[in-house]
Amino acid sequence: MIAPAARWPVAQERALSAFRTELQAEPAVVARAPGRVNLIGEHVDYNDGFVLPAAIDRDVVVVAAPRMDASIRVLAVDTGEADSFTPLERFPRAAGWISYVRGVARLLVEMGVRIPGASLAIAGDVPIGAGLSSSAALEVSVASALLALAQRTLPQLQLVELCHRAESEFAGVQCGIMDQLVSVCGAADRAVFLDCRSLEFAHLPIPAHLRLVATDSGVRRDLRNSAYNDRVKECHEAALLLGARSLRDVEPDQFAAMESELPELLRRRARHVVTEIRRTSLAARALERQDMQQFGELMQESHESLRADYEVSIPELDALVEVTRVVDGVVGSRLSGAGFGGCIISVVEETAVAHFLESVPREYCNRTGRQAVVHVCRASPGASATENWT
Ligand code: GLA
Repeated sequence: MIAPAARWPVAQERALSAFRTELQAEPAVVARAPGRVNLIGEHVDYNDGFVLPAAIDRDVVVVAAPRMDASIRVLAVDTGEADSFTPLERFPRAAGWISYVRGVARLLVEMGVRIPGASLAIAGDVPIGAGLSSSAALEVSVASALLALAQRTLPQLQLVELCHRAESEFAGVQCGIMDQLVSVCGAADRAVFLDCRSLEFAHLPIPAHLRLVATDSGVRRDLRNSAYNDRVKECHEAALLLGARSLRDVEPDQFAAMESELPELLRRRARHVVTEIRRTSLAARALERQDMQQFGELMQESHESLRADYEVSIPELDALVEVTRVVDGVVGSRLSGAGFGGCIISVVEETAVAHFLESVPREYCNRTGRQAVVHVCRASPGASATENWT
């Protein structure tokens, strides 16, 4: 199945129309924030490593207006769910999408932003649970809308950190900073080469003839959060045993000399992280020189390491990577995001996209009996908000 091309104006129309008819208000602000793909640098952001994601042309859109009372009323247009709360009200942890919205509002108030009562309608075309960071897009778009209503701005990195805290403190995922950062700081036709320790980043141009193609395996696993938190713990244990502040501080040759000090499971986890950080630096340099052959080889090595050492792949993702690998014009493919389901990312020459769309879902279905959904994306700008919307 082919997902429609970039449709955020459609998501925006849905949100605007529901805002007027169901919340019966006139919009004052429209904010949007993108999902992301990660080209390479997987499961290294929480190890202070380097990552190379790109924001994509799939957005969560929030239409907002102030209310006369102090409550925040939210309508999730795509699911029909609704919520109403005041920012400092207590709420159960991990209450789905509501935790992200309530968490962001609460943290803004705690940091002294006087947000007014508000009506919000939310719609989007970032597929949910597919590993394309719909949650970061939700956090960042809601924060951007509430800040615009409060007539405040925050430096980009403060906005990133606030949204990251909303995810780890209120939704219970010990995630790294990559998804929120790229949703705020992404740029058109550029990948974001980010140092997750210093939070310094550079925008690296993606050659114009390439497309970022995310193929959704259709597999959704609840396991994702608990296994994710296990991996975070294993990495911290391995760093401790190696006497390092984090695995970022262990070079691959040092690791080779010390790896026998680790129990077998931690050795494999750490080997993935140490080698993935190196691969990501090499990939950034390859992208700068437009050496797409090396870039593609590094993507393949990354997938293999995630499969064999980090154990976050599943047979469906491996099958997708294999069927894309033989398509002419595919630079490289690997799983993207946390793993255990969701998407793979392929870098594909524009002229090969039609063949990719025709052959990959067919071959994947032959092997697994499942329907793949293909999202052909371009790297896109980070979040924005428009005030005085009429
Ligand atoms: C999820 C997390 C990110 C990152 C990736 C794996 O998307 O939210 O912080 O750790 O998994 O690279």
